This record gives sequence, C-alpha cells and structure tokens, in this order.
Amino acid sequence: MNLELTGKSVVVTGAGSNIGRAIALGFANEGANLTLGDIDATQTNSVVEEAVTSGAAAQFVQTDVTDLGQVTTLMNAANTNYGGLDILVNCVGWDQLMYFTETTPEFWNRIIQINYVGVLNCTSAALELMIPAKSGSIVSISSDASRQGESREAVYGGTKAAINSFMKTIAKENGRAGIRCNVVCPGVTIPESEDEVGEHSMWKDKDSMFTPEQLERIARALPLRKLGRPSDVANAVVFLSSDAVAGHVTGQVLSVSGGYSMIG
Ligand SMILES: NC(=O)c1ccc[n+]([C@@H]2O[C@H](COP(=O)([O-])OP(=O)(O)OC[C@H]3O[C@@H](n4cnc5c(N)ncnc54)[C@H](O)[C@@H]3O)[C@@H](O)[C@H]2O)c1
Repeated sequence: MNLELTGKSVVVTGAGSNIGRAIALGFANEGANLTLGDIDATQTNSVVEEAVTSGAAAQFVQTDVTDLGQVTTLMNAANTNYGGLDILVNCVGWDQLMYFTETTPEFWNRIIQINYVGVLNCTSAALELMIPAKSGSIVSISSDASRQGESREAVYGGTKAAINSFMKTIAKENGRAGIRCNVVCPGVTIPESEDEVGEHSMWKDKDSMFTPEQLERIARALPLRKLGRPSDVANAVVFLSSDAVAGHVTGQVLSVSGGYSMIG
C-alpha cells in the first residue's frame, strides 16, 4: 500500500524516546522529511542519524513544548527547510504514578503544562501554517487512561481526556480547511531496549513505572495477552497521517492497547 508520505514535511514532538522515536522512524521509512522537537538533544540527534541512515531527511530543533516561542521556531524550521508543514504529531507526555491524594499542586501544574498546554502550543503554531495551505494532519498521542480512568493517573488521565476533546473540536473547526485531526491512545507500551529511551524518559528508571511482575500481570489481563511496543503505536499514527489511506478519517480517538479499552 502506498501511503504517499514521501517528501511530506512532518514534525514529531517527544521524538527522542520510546513511542516518539518509533513514530519518527516510521515516517523516515516512508521517505518523509522530519523535523524532530524534544528537550533531549543527545537522544534526539541519535534518532536524526537513524532517520538519515534510512534515507530520510531529518533535522533536530531543541524544543520545550511548554514554551510557545520555542514551538513556533520548531514549526518554522519545518516550513523553511522542507517547504511547509504537512503533518504534526504531538507525542510529548509525562507522568509519575501516584495516588491523587499523594500529589501536589506543583505536580498537577507540571503535568498540565507538559501534556496539555504543550499540545495547545504545538497545535496553534501548526495551524498558522496549515490553514493558509488548506491541508494538514494532526495526530495527538493521548492514553487509554483518558477513556476509563486509571488508578495513580488521575491528573495525567484528565489531561489526556482534555486532549481527546480538544482534538475533536479542532477537527470540527478546521475540516473545511482540509485539516484532519485524530488521537491515538496507547496502553502500556514498553521500549524494546534501553537504547530507545532518553534521559528525560518516564522509562529511564523502568521500575518507577511498573515492576516486571506488574507488567506480566498487565499483559495477562489484556485480550491480546501482550504489552504494546512503540512500533504498534507508530503504525497507527503513520496510517492516520496519510491522506492517501485515511483521507476521510477525522475527529477519531483510536486505542492501540491490546484491547484494554473497547469503546463502541
Ligand atoms: N509508554 C506508555 O506506556 C504510554 C501509554 C499511554 C500513553 N503514552 C503517551 O505516549 C507518549 C509517549 O510516551 P513514551 O513512553 O514514549 O514517553 P517517554 O517518556 O519515553 O518520552 C517522552 C519524550 O518527551 C520528551 N519531553 C519531555 N518533556 C518535554 C518537553 N517539555 N518538551 C519537549 N520534549 C519533552 C522527553 O525528552 C522524551 O524524549 C506520551 O504522550 C505518553 O503520555 C505512553
């Protein structure tokens, strides 16, 4: 199947680690021109190298998504060097697993800034370029925690539910400009190896997320009896981003979670 992504200008945020890394490399395999934003220069530059080795064009722009000025610079780099902005993937996200009663307002604010304000900043800056071009695709990475609530992810799940709703509204407001907006909700998605996670990754200290025993229990409880891998999410994102195969799909929230949540 030809996804017709060759030469498309794609911005991926959080591209240095785990899921964002796999998304960037998924687009690289399709011959896209990549602009990768992340706070982690070392890790993301290694993704740029991998992408270039696979034959794609790629650049890194160090970006904190909570800062609108830096985000604007990121989008402008894609526009200037690759002749526009066709696709944005909002992949940055952060959490620490804690019961709500253990969390503080500082913690709430940090999650809201990174997970939700980051998506607002990136979407706003991308639309500045996409609306005049009358085309574009935006995919935001949410979480199955947004769909049914999850213990120790109260504020995180709230920000992800906000993303689901925000993206549907952006889809409604901008469909007439030829812009499609969709959401992918991963379930537990573990890196293939330690090389795939960056210094600021939630998975840097794996046991701070889940112990090996907890991961086994989670896998056993899923209909597909296995945890997700970053490429599972990347494949869904690449599909949704392609006008050739998903050109009539917008405002959708797709779980890629081994059947953890099944929304009718
Ligand atoms: N891995 C999972 O099990 C899982 C499950 C559900 C949802 N998700 C979502 O998928 C996305 C990716 O998750 P992951 O496991 O790959 O995360 P990760 O922690 O491995 O990677 C996150 C990346 O974002 C970067 N980053 C952090 N803060 C940033 C900021 N302010 N500005 C720019 N870059 C920043 C980090 O440097 C890192 O490269 C997130 O939105 C996460 O919420 C992940």
